[in-house]
Amino acid sequence: MSESTRLAFRITLIIGVFYFIGFTFIYLNTSIDFFYIISIFLLFLIFTFLVIRLHIENYIYQKIKVIYKTIHNQKRNKSKQLRDREQSLASIENVHHEVIAWSKEYQDQIDELKRLEIYRKEYIGNISHELKTPLFNIQGYISTLIDGGIEDESINLKYLTRSEKSVERLIKIVEELDTISRIESGELVLNKTRFNILDLVKEIFELFEVEASKKSSQFFFNKNYDHPIFVFADRLQLHTLLTNLISNAIKYGASKNGKIKISFFDMNENVLVEVTDNGPGISKEDLPRIFERFYRTDKARSRDAGGTGLGLAIVKHIVEAHNQVINVRSTIGLGTTFAFTLKKA
Ligand SMILES: Nc1ncnc2c1ncn2[C@@H]1O[C@H](COP(=O)(O)OP(=O)(O)O)[C@@H](O)[C@H]1O
Ligand SMILES: [Mg+2]
Repeated sequence: MSESTRLAFRITLIIGVFYFIGFTFIYLNTSIDFFYIISIFLLFLIFTFLVIRLHIENYIYQKIKVIYKTIHNQKRNKSKQLRDREQSLASIENVHHEVIAWSKEYQDQIDELKRLEIYRKEYIGNISHELKTPLFNIQGYISTLIDGGIEDESINLKYLTRSEKSVERLIKIVEELDTISRIESGELVLNKTRFNILDLVKEIFELFEVEASKKSSQFFFNKNYDHPIFVFADRLQLHTLLTNLISNAIKYGASKNGKIKISFFDMNENVLVEVTDNGPGISKEDLPRIFERFYRTDKARSRDAGGTGLGLAIVKHIVEAHNQVINVRSTIGLGTTFAFTLKKA
């Protein structure tokens, strides 16, 4: 029984008592037939009940309409309004639930905005912090050179070279930030083609040959691949992605005799690509945050290695732009594996 029916029923009962008194009075003072008077009495009751219920429904509907308008914040056409009316009158409980759902939705939106606001503040803080170090370095070197250092053979070239390094670092940070914002704003349009990923990986191995040999690190595949592995992706972006993962594996992998392994696994429509190193690994606390911008487990070491802390953020963006997923697993003392999927072609 709906709320309005119940209420109308109760009111009718109260009014019914007065009817009863009235009809009893009429019955006792006239000679009208008993069944006749009972029928009239019941008709009165039913009619009263219907009129009251209609009024209550109208009243509730007026109230509910305002609530609905507020929470849905949109105009509806007549037939929809009628349907709404029927639905809402079925039970005031519905409105109650809808309002709760509505307020929860708003609360979620507010929470999300708050989270984004904190994130934005942190992000801007991080950017200025990262830019500050090379800028202050450059300022220091230039001041020293202006204050007479330029004449000093032992430092002039050294300071200029260091300034150049800092400028290069600034450029790198700005370029990487630019890459991230281009991907985020959707400006970067993927140019997907069909290509053999084995070739791409071999190219990157060659690119890092010197760097790896400095630490006596070696690259290898998990097995011998004598057939090409065709994927459908943006080759240039994948180049950036693999460069980041492989350079990280060299930089943060084993300090000597590193083993950097690339594996491919067939997964129906996709290929799973894994980059594994035998380095010191990443702690459980750091692991979930590793893809955040500017997040580095060891800031000093990363900066020395020329890192900006943006590499993995870019990697994740590239994978997600391809509608694929990336994850990382790591064991302290054993090594780290980054695994991502690609669409087969
Ligand atoms: N293979 C790895 N082994 C251990 N730590 C890693 C590895 N790859 C990344 N990291 C950690 O993740 C951090 C973020 O990586 P990244 O975003 O590429 O920044 P960057 O290379 O500029 O330092 C690195 O500073 C490092 O601390
Ligand atoms: Mg990196």
